[in-house]
Amino acid sequence: MEQNIRPDPNIYKFPIHPLKRFNKKSAEYKQPVEITSFRYDENRQMHIDDRELRYYYPANLEDGNLSVGYENFIQRESEGPETIHPLLDALIHIKETRGDSIKADIISWRGIFTKMLCTPYNRNEPWEFGATLYNNKIFIEEHETEQARLNRERSTPKSKLMVYWGYKFEALSTIGVPATEIKSQDDPRLLERKNSIVNNNIQYCSVSKTSLGKNRLIMGADVDCLIDVKPPYPENPINKYIELKTSKILKNERDTFVFERYKLIKFWAQSFLIGIPKIIIGFRDDDGNLCSLKEIKTLEIPRMVRGKDKMWDAVTCLNFLNEFFEWLRGVIKIEDANSSYIISFKEPYQEIEVAFCHNKNPVLADRHLKPFGK
Ligand code: A3P
Ligand code: MG
Ligand code: MG
Repeated sequence: MEQNIRPDPNIYKFPIHPLKRFNKKSAEYKQPVEITSFRYDENRQMHIDDRELRYYYPANLEDGNLSVGYENFIQRESEGPETIHPLLDALIHIKETRGDSIKADIISWRGIFTKMLCTPYNRNEPWEFGATLYNNKIFIEEHETEQARLNRERSTPKSKLMVYWGYKFEALSTIGVPATEIKSQDDPRLLERKNSIVNNNIQYCSVSKTSLGKNRLIMGADVDCLIDVKPPYPENPINKYIELKTSKILKNERDTFVFERYKLIKFWAQSFLIGIPKIIIGFRDDDGNLCSLKEIKTLEIPRMVRGKDKMWDAVTCLNFLNEFFEWLRGVIKIEDANSSYIISFKEPYQEIEVAFCHNKNPVLADRHLKPFGK
């Protein structure tokens, strides 16, 4: 039977291809400025206080079995993506304590912007976001896709262990005091971190403002630690943040290609968006033994892959995101705190779709309406 192919007037589509149209002078991305930070404690309680972030101190490769302590891993209970409520609470706190008004066109987690930024080269990871327009601001949260839900429900013991490796690497690479205070390898604080119980409820979030072209953004982002800091705690910590990552060691050309094509784009996007200058990669073998450490500068990543066959291009990503944001702000017009738009990317080479959902999945909680209202 022939299908009715009349387009649904309530669905808007932003084509991703051809990518050539984004290959031009880069849209300007302002250096992000941190406006506040907050943390979650071991019980996942949120605190907006002046407790310091942890400091980088290189992992000892001899302690590098990343599976150690897995049986004691305290893992955050989570069923799918987090709401943006804690981020909104932190912004309200700024408004109440400093009287600053919140100026932004789009507010979300950095992880959501990362997924959007990488979309031109995304081949196999569909995403879906919910967005509510309220008082001229678009608030965006993540929805779990069917693919992500199946991955979560069918995750194997090995894939759960591999998630632990990432957190264990963070534990083995950080300490509670600046590295300058550690005078010897026998320092008890190094022994302590080696034996510490990994609890991924604990997290530090930096909130920054920036803009891409004419789009003013506010984003909250998990940050891992600080590097090259002597006391006192830096007033503008962003250029002292570093991102920690684990990756499989690269044994051959194929491994290098996969790393550069699929991992480096995400590493770059994640750190670039909040202005983190350096990434430390812990390379591990298939059994989770840490083999080497490598420091890379975020801004040098695009050059590392430039001109290589079947790679990705950072300027294309930025121009894509800029034009997508402009377009999104043009189609998200119904200002209704009780409703939302679904923004979805289902298949590579297809478009991004936006559909309005009346009285469904509002992104803001009731407590946010008055502080973010007119
Ligand atoms: P790796 O990135 O080294 O694998 P982040 O690097 O963003 O700070 O995240 C820290 C760790 O959290 C990751 O370490 C990984 O172990 C886990 N993690 C983060 N996002 C994840 C995801 N989408 N799926 C599975 N694990 C994830
Ligand atoms: Mg992190
Ligand atoms: Mg990390």
